[in-house]
Formats: sequence, structure tokens, C-alpha cells
Amino acid sequence: MDLNLDELKRAMEKEGYVSEDDLAVTVYLALTLKKPLLVEGAPGVGKTEIAKVLGRVFDTEVIRLQCYEGLDENKALYEWNYQRQLLKIQILKDSCPHEDIEKDLFDEEYLLERPLLKAIRSDRRVVLLIDEVDKVDEPFEAFLFELLSDFQVSIPELGTLEARQIPIVVLTSNGDRELSDGLKRRCVYLYIDYPDIDKEVRILQMKVPEAGERLNRQIAAAVNYIRSNLDLRKQPSIAESLDWARALVALHADVLTVENLTRTVNLLLKNRDDRLQVLDGGVLDEIMRHALGEKAGEKGHTHCHCHGNLPASSN
Ligand SMILES: Nc1ncnc2c1ncn2[C@@H]1O[C@H](COP(=O)(O)OP(=O)(O)O)[C@@H](O)[C@H]1O
Ligand SMILES: [Mg+2]
Repeated sequence: MDLNLDELKRAMEKEGYVSEDDLAVTVYLALTLKKPLLVEGAPGVGKTEIAKVLGRVFDTEVIRLQCYEGLDENKALYEWNYQRQLLKIQILKDSCPHEDIEKDLFDEEYLLERPLLKAIRSDRRVVLLIDEVDKVDEPFEAFLFELLSDFQVSIPELGTLEARQIPIVVLTSNGDRELSDGLKRRCVYLYIDYPDIDKEVRILQMKVPEAGERLNRQIAAAVNYIRSNLDLRKQPSIAESLDWARALVALHADVLTVENLTRTVNLLLKNRDDRLQVLDGGVLDEIMRHALGEKAGEKGHTHCHCHGNLPASSN
């Protein structure tokens, strides 16, 4: 780790990740202390992206273990290559019938590396992304402890394998399940909330610059209003804001209007009831008021209630 805090923040930014100080400090500490980083937050707030960006910052491979219910060690750590073992047995039986067949069968040669083992045995320092760890059950979580605290894994037939290079480990959780204290204790913890308007504008400007600062600010303000004032089944995340911005660009919009909002709202909200709630006349007017109250280039107007000329509501 040869970047200082400022350099890390700038390097992440250069690779397309907008981070506030808190976030950068926490990532920096995880890297410096060589501890796994556990990132928690709602879907789509930029958790997985941290691992990908770190891969780019350190110019190294990102090895991803996507978690799901029922994930087991065979899929996460290693498996024996049964077919090759069987083949070997067959050959030995035919050619040297008196040889000890089991000898050498559990050799590294017959090992199939899964993501965790691959990360441990890599000659270079890699980024190991253990994505959506809240989806696995508790025994699997406990199985991860050895890896997370000692950077080693045990394979009965081979013994303990220590990491050749300590990987940069990033775990993410959508918070569907409370993670165990044991897991949290082994990690540096980062919570990512929905961004405020300014941060979301910066992200939009980074990812969809073609929308222009004015439209991006309107999008961020509208999304911010929707998140903080409506009781939705599924809050729009940054991923949806980005999709929405791209959709508006595709329709050649340069300002937000009731009409283009209505036509693209399905990119922002994926639930029918949520959409109906937003398309309600009164709500739509409020969203537009907040979106247009945020003038391009003006910062910190989260609570601006200035009333411009509102386009006529059409629904
Ligand atoms: N701080 C950020 N800077 C730049 N892009 C971001 C940021 N946060 C989120 N994004 C973008 O939002 C989208 C969703 O992020 P992702 O990491 O996949 O979410 P999560 O893993 O939390 O569900 C991605 O396209 C990502 O690039
Ligand atoms: Mg993710």
C-alpha cells in the first residue's frame, strides 16, 4: 500500500468512483491495516463498485465470489477434479496394478481452485470480492473467519495454505440479514447511505456527462425528493438514477419536464405501485418543483422551494 489518503481518494475518483472523506478514510484504513473491508448498504449504492475500482487503482485482478443461499465450500474454496482422479485410477490399474492407487490422488494437480483459494494462492496481490455475504447462512460465514483473520485456508488433504500475498478483501452486504459479530469484528466496517444531492450530481456527471450539469442536477434533486418523501416499496438507487439519466439523454431531453419524467419513470421505479405513487398529479408537481428549484451550478439547495415556471401537469 503505497498511496496516502489523498492519493487514494484521487485515484478512486480518477477510476470513476466519487467518494466523500468518510468513505475514503475507511477504505484507506482497511488497506493500511490489511483488514477486510465490509461494506453495507441498500442495493445500488456503490458497494460492489468499490472492489472493482480498487482493482483498477492497484492494477490487479478482481476475484469475485458471488454469494447465494446454499453456497458451500466446494463452490467457494476448492473441489477435487474427480474426472481426472478417476482417469488416473484407470490408467494406474491398467499399467501398474500393484501400485498404491490412492497415493498422489490428492495432489495439487487434481485441485480445482474456486475463488477463495485462487485469491489465496495468487502470486500477485489481488482484490477478493465476497459479494452479498448476507445471502449465505451462518455456518458459511463462520467458515470465512479463518480466511478473513489469518488469510489462510485449511484443506484436509493438503493442510493449511497461507496466502502468498495478502489480498485486498472487500465484502458487501445489502443488510438483508444481520451479520455475525465474529464477521464484523474481523473487518473494517463501512456503511454507505444514499448520496446527498451534490454527491449524486458528481456521480451523474462522472458517468453520464452527456446529460449536462443542469439536467443531472435536476435528476439528482428529483431522486432525492422521491427517496426522502415517498414511502416506496423499492427506493431508487444510484444505479437507477444513472439509468434514468441515460434514458433522458436517449430522448434528447436537456431539462426535466413532466412529460419526459412520465415517459421514463419506469427506469427509475421498477414497482408498479411505486410508479403510480409518483405519477399522482400532486406528487409529480412537488417532484418537479424540487427538481427545477435546484438550479444548475448552485449547490446546497436541498431545501429550495423557489417556484419557477412549472410546466403544466399532464397525466
Ligand atoms: N460513489 C460512486 N461513484 C461512482 N459511481 C457509483 C458510485 N456509487 C454507485 N455508483 C454506480 O452505481 C451503480 C451501482 O453500484 P454497485 O456498486 O453495483 O451497487 P451495489 O453493489 O451497492 O448494489 C454502478 O453503476 C456504480 O458505478
Ligand atoms: Mg453489488
